Amino acid sequence: MSEVRYDGKTVVVTGGGGSLGRAYCLLFASRGANVVVNDLGGSFSGEGASKSAADKVVDEIVEMGGKAVASYESVSTMEGAEKTMQVAKDAFGSVHMLINNAGILRDVSFAKMTEDDWDKIMEVHLRGAFCMTKAAWPFFREQSYGRVILTASAAGIYGNFGQTNYSAAKLGLYGMGQTLAHEGKKYNINTNVIAPVARSRMTETVMPPPLLEKLRPEAVAPLVGWLCAEESKESGSLFEVGAGRFFKLGWIRTNGYKSEAEGGVASLEELRDNWKTVTDFTDAKMVRNIQESTMAFMR
Ligand code: NAI
Repeated sequence: MSEVRYDGKTVVVTGGGGSLGRAYCLLFASRGANVVVNDLGGSFSGEGASKSAADKVVDEIVEMGGKAVASYESVSTMEGAEKTMQVAKDAFGSVHMLINNAGILRDVSFAKMTEDDWDKIMEVHLRGAFCMTKAAWPFFREQSYGRVILTASAAGIYGNFGQTNYSAAKLGLYGMGQTLAHEGKKYNINTNVIAPVARSRMTETVMPPPLLEKLRPEAVAPLVGWLCAEESKESGSLFEVGAGRFFKLGWIRTNGYKSEAEGGVASLEELRDNWKTVTDFTDAKMVRNIQESTMAFMR
């Protein structure tokens, strides 16, 4: 059986010093990739900075005979993102894969959420992924090769108490990934979105220790690794992953209700009286792209 390998390829892993990020870095390094471990090294709510988060993982990789360098820049500024790409270029010549994984939490009910709680989450997750991907994109286009991972969350897909900011940012990344997949297609740039579950300082406050024990970050890494493999053609997809389980998600749409009123302008009462039909998921169908979505309105 042939091995999946990344010899000659360079991966930038943001938040590479954290729980999931480290697992990705070690897997990529073990299969021959050059690894740029990017981590600001602050607290889980985004305060402070430290070089040790990235350095530890670089040391681990070097000890196992792999190739790695550190970047301590925040993902949240264009300047920082470009510096990280420069670190990759100086050390290894280019960038082929970008794992947008850096993240923080500012959990608080919406009633108590401050503007700062909202902005900080957008800054790291959404703006962070924008800046990093924007800085990597020219490399990908020029070499007609790129692999991008964006990290969403079940909190974004389904919602979760106390996480309006985080949910918004995480599902924003899903939308970003959908369009990047379209725009990257002709340049062989694949973009996929994952919603992982793993133990980390982010989950240890909300899950009991026996459960956490089973949620190894290493169990998420194979999905990220495979989506970044040269052989993988997957792009524009969303996955849930954790504890050895791998799921692809999609949108389903009810068969809906069609008003026969002039110009399609239903009365409020007509809509009220047919609400069951609008919301009935019996025989719902999957909608795969914007063409399939729009078709229903054109018919
Ligand atoms: P973690 O806290 O162990 O790792 C996150 C890393 O990102 C930390 O090392 C942190 O220093 C770094 N970071 C934070 N802000 C940064 C910035 N501005 N620039 C560069 N680095 C920065 O947490 P974990 O769990 O490994 O999270 C990784 C990603 O997975 C995050 O995006 C998180 O939202 C997401 N996620 C994790 C889940 C889980 O079950 N662990 C569930 C759903 C999503």
